[in-house]
Amino acid sequence: MINTENSLILHGPVAYSRGPDELITFEDAYAVCVNGVSEGVFESLPEEYRGLPVEDVRGKLIIPGLVDLHIHAPQYQFRGIGMDMELLPWLASYAFPEEARYADIDYAAAAYAMFVKELRHSATTRACVFATAHKAATLKLMELLEESGLVTFVGKVCMDRNVPDYYVESTEGSLSATGEWLSEAEKAGFLNTHPIITPRFTPACTRELMRGLAELSREYAVPVQSHLSENLSEIELVKELEPDTSCYADSYVRAGLIRKDCPSVMVHCVWSGEEELSILKENGVFIAHSPESNINLCSGAAPVKKYLEAGLNTGLATDVAGGSSTSMFSAIRNAVFASKLRFRLYDGSVKPLTFSEAFYLATKGGGAFFGKAGSLEKGYMFDALILDESRIPTMRTDMNIAERLERFVYLGHDNDIAGKLVCGKKLFWK
Ligand code: GUN
Ligand code: FE
Repeated sequence: MINTENSLILHGPVAYSRGPDELITFEDAYAVCVNGVSEGVFESLPEEYRGLPVEDVRGKLIIPGLVDLHIHAPQYQFRGIGMDMELLPWLASYAFPEEARYADIDYAAAAYAMFVKELRHSATTRACVFATAHKAATLKLMELLEESGLVTFVGKVCMDRNVPDYYVESTEGSLSATGEWLSEAEKAGFLNTHPIITPRFTPACTRELMRGLAELSREYAVPVQSHLSENLSEIELVKELEPDTSCYADSYVRAGLIRKDCPSVMVHCVWSGEEELSILKENGVFIAHSPESNINLCSGAAPVKKYLEAGLNTGLATDVAGGSSTSMFSAIRNAVFASKLRFRLYDGSVKPLTFSEAFYLATKGGGAFFGKAGSLEKGYMFDALILDESRIPTMRTDMNIAERLERFVYLGHDNDIAGKLVCGKKLFWK
């Protein structure tokens, strides 16, 4: 049975990644979606699909939806300010005071509505989201995201140490609120909005809290997200706080939060050593690379090319408000920039990212955390963007599709997206 609500054909130029070095392009093709899933991209339309509605977007570009593996929804309110501090003072001066406001559910509802409105109109189709420590506000954010049509993992943030009194939780309080939140999220019956266990990072979480969270992740069969090896002062602090660990990731392993039977996203991994990387690889952990945030908070630049070559699961993230923008186009550009500076200034052994690799990270690389997402290959969930290049004119009408895509990522804006689909359903169509 074909469902007409999420079955259609997009006709026009197409680009998607098959692998980091394999950008697949078509000058003129049919991307076929049946019941929300891609049937593949064809140069001539197979007979069996002739009855499906066709959207003619020749003159524009069809690409997969972009996946933001890490964004802080409450920090949207102060994006673009406070860029003159490193991570730990930045958390104390900007992040914690803003996040504490979400104790007020009216503030939270209004602020999250703004955030969700922007995300819905952005290039992002799927995201892993940090909320705040507040259960009610986090459920509100989940409701709004569910209405948006985006597919997300959302986490109530947990933290029981090294956080100011006005925002810190007790160990017991954090665990019981998380248990209640998981059970209420389950009852809400969201289809596209999933809970994810979210210890903020080791400096803010005791071993006891993290062990309790690991139990909850088993009990409710939910994944885990946290920060890892981001900034040098943070890493020093972890060494002091957790003297029995062999590396930062080991603090999550010992608590049971990084383990083979539990999908997880670890954000940043700027300074991960060989032992840490082998822990990530063995456990199938996803690395969320967040280049703009890493520069803004003076954290560094992660050797992402090395992670790709080592076969680690790696995706891209905006990390608003460490990153200033929700735009994943901007994240792709910044990934390439950061890798070039890293290569030239301090480590010639790791080559810069190519455009194709950065695009892969933003699509199929991070998409894998959601299952078959981030590509238009047969069998993938049909998330797509229609890019309109009319605002960025050129005399060069002979550019190939790969060049047009690269140019759009460098010069285009999220407002230049003419249409957005998630699992074959239109979120908007201009
Ligand atoms: N580490 C712990 N909390 C945060 C946060 O809010 N932003 C970033 N970039 N790193 C963190
Ligand atoms: Fe973050």
